[in-house]
Amino acid sequence: MENKDRKQPLLFKNFPSLKNNIPWIPLLTNLPTSINELRELEKRFEIQSPGGLYIKRDDKDHHIYGGNKLRKFEFIFAKILEEDKKGVMTFGGVGTNHGLACAIIAKELGLNCDLFLAHQPITWHVQRSLLLYDYFDANLHYAKSYGGLVLKGLWFRLTHSKYYMMLPGGSTLLGFGSPSGTLGFINAVFELKAQIEKGVIPEPDIIYVPCGSAGTAAGLIAGCKLLELKTKVHAVAVSTDLFASKSSIIKNSNKALKHLQKLDKSFPSVEVKSEDFELIKGYLGSEYGAKTKRGQKAIDIVMELEGQEKGFKLETTYTGKAMAAMLDYIQKESNKMKTILFWNTYNSNNLDQFLKETKFNFQKLPKEFHKFYNQYQYQCWQIKDCPNHKECDAYLNHEYRCWKVKRCSENTRQRCRAYEKLKNTIHLEDS
Ligand SMILES: Cc1ncc(COP(=O)(O)O)c(C=O)c1O
Repeated sequence: MENKDRKQPLLFKNFPSLKNNIPWIPLLTNLPTSINELRELEKRFEIQSPGGLYIKRDDKDHHIYGGNKLRKFEFIFAKILEEDKKGVMTFGGVGTNHGLACAIIAKELGLNCDLFLAHQPITWHVQRSLLLYDYFDANLHYAKSYGGLVLKGLWFRLTHSKYYMMLPGGSTLLGFGSPSGTLGFINAVFELKAQIEKGVIPEPDIIYVPCGSAGTAAGLIAGCKLLELKTKVHAVAVSTDLFASKSSIIKNSNKALKHLQKLDKSFPSVEVKSEDFELIKGYLGSEYGAKTKRGQKAIDIVMELEGQEKGFKLETTYTGKAMAAMLDYIQKESNKMKTILFWNTYNSNNLDQFLKETKFNFQKLPKEFHKFYNQYQYQCWQIKDCPNHKECDAYLNHEYRCWKVKRCSENTRQRCRAYEKLKNTIHLEDS
């Protein structure tokens, strides 16, 4: 198993002259991430030979916080260190997973971290994330809108020249910004190819992946094209059209490829075009972070059949929506013989030990965040005063509704005070 002591990424092994020109540090502690076959899901959806459903377990690529961001960070944080910065600043919604990953890695590397956070629908996941950013020593800044956030961020950058400004999601956006993050996912396709060659998975026809700031999808698309895989990436749009668009993805992929071509003359002159991938729309809901019925249903099915046993998690902002798109795709008779890989981008390590150490003291956060705690209750244990709630599986669970965790029958639910309250609070959009 490759680990943090590995000397170079597979991209450099294949193109050795890149090694001296591209900053990189080992951060991931569990590579290659495993690939599991989703046999129960295959049965439920009557997948037929030679087809199959698989999941790439990037959720376990790091011992504290797994997920897609860490692959980007091996290249981005290396650049930050090379530029001798003393801190990093980045942007996201108030519950940003990217921000949490950033805070954790900045702390590990002894860098300051400032997060610029914009409004998104408030959930326990958001409340929990804010406490964790603080736990990992990030400084928090808030604005109601992304416009306000950009202004605050730019001002901060102007007055803090020793900070590296990482764009939202660690991606190139609309062709602007460093392609470093995308390289992490081009590199990931080398890992996938090695797994295909070892027979861990047949060459996939399709990869399903959520598309937020588009860096993950862009890297996978560029990597598949570079390595001449037949695999077509289906990028499921889960954020605004501005970022999750075909043109944004193409710009992002090609900026990274051109960067590599410039640094190594032997690098193939491939270019990503619109027909190389699919952008799947219709799963976002009314806004970034909205919970949708289809997303929630997909999460419920997959968790019941696979996730609880295999120890991975899905959530409602990214992976649940990508999974909903994948399930819709395999419903169709003509798709039942396809080999499909779901690229799991969400951390599945348990962070409760850190959360408990915060003592849920939200008063420590800057004042503008307090209203997110005073006005909202999202969890049964915030509503019911169960004597042994700390031993209960639903306690602190931020991905699933308590009645799903506890597998409460319809009957039990109807008599439960928490269910009565939460069923109206947790709003699922029709989308
Ligand atoms: C769990 C998860 N999946 C997917 C994404 C989207 O990745 P990208 O921004 O590279 O499109 C994010 C971004 O924060 C994420 O947190």
